[in-house]
Amino acid sequence: MQTLDNSLGLSMPKLGLGTWPMLDQACSDAVCTALDLGYRHIDTAAAYNNEAAVGQALSRTSVPREAIHVTSKVWWDKLAPADLRASFEASLKALRLDYIDLFLIHWPGRGDWNMERSLDALAALRDSGKAKAIGVANFPLPMLRRAVEELHVPLAALQVEYHVSLGQQPLLDFCQQHGLALTAYSPLARNRVTQFPEIQRIAEKHGVLPSQVALKWLLDQPNVAAIPKAASLANQQSNLDSLKVQLDDEDRALIAGLPKDQRLVNPEFAPRWD
Ligand SMILES: NC(=O)c1ccc[n+]([C@@H]2O[C@H](COP(=O)([O-])OP(=O)(O)OC[C@H]3O[C@@H](n4cnc5c(N)ncnc54)[C@H](OP(=O)(O)O)[C@@H]3O)[C@@H](O)[C@H]2O)c1
Repeated sequence: MQTLDNSLGLSMPKLGLGTWPMLDQACSDAVCTALDLGYRHIDTAAAYNNEAAVGQALSRTSVPREAIHVTSKVWWDKLAPADLRASFEASLKALRLDYIDLFLIHWPGRGDWNMERSLDALAALRDSGKAKAIGVANFPLPMLRRAVEELHVPLAALQVEYHVSLGQQPLLDFCQQHGLALTAYSPLARNRVTQFPEIQRIAEKHGVLPSQVALKWLLDQPNVAAIPKAASLANQQSNLDSLKVQLDDEDRALIAGLPKDQRLVNPEFAPRWD
């Protein structure tokens, strides 16, 4: 599978497995199934309460550690430097790893949050080698721009909601310009993508599933990775098979015409998106 690589320590397969909201044995089994099928990128977070389950799967698999990319994240109430470091160490322990491939700030802090200090602490984890690469999630463009262009933090990736019905062009332009990967979360819009007649028509034309059209549309874009969550072997395989779908310009034009404002993940602690 194609990987996204950059000079900031990132080497991340374009298609990964999302693990929220899977827990315990169900999560562990799903990760093992995915690794058996050929997935080599697993997305977890401290806030998902499933790092131990992911760690159990990683300890069970015969796939070598260095062949697997693991992303984890620190929650927004643990962004003071000491808390961030403690959260990182707890993630490492739960995952049973001695390094994490990509470690992200899950959401920006609130109120008088000192972004610079948190990003310094994040960068120190990269300097230590325990996080191979670092990044952020759910940062709006002004915040990302400040981190990269003013503070020169070596961010390798941004994780945001992105799918056929939520546009992210300004963030994607920025990531492409600066060599960051953009990881699309909720890439199936939590299965709503299948409801668009345009997506259904494209799927019928190619003899594939609507979910596969939606995923391939993302995966065809430079710098973009996607992390659909799928519990069953059938859905994991189907998502993997999306890599074989061939979309054409007519398909992309139809998808471009869909509404692009349908944000699904917008908790009360979310930043202003514009
Ligand atoms: N950074 C953040 O703030 C953030 C926020 C949200 C999510 N995430 C990450 O992104 C991952 C994915 O996002 P998400 O879970 O919100 O949404 P999603 O991946 O768009 O959708 C997941 C839903 O789609 C279903 N599904 C998956 N493959 C399918 C297929 N081939 N056919 C039919 N249904 C299918 C899943 O069902 P089954 O499980 O039954 O297959 C599940 O109900 C999360 O697991 C998490 O790791 C990150």
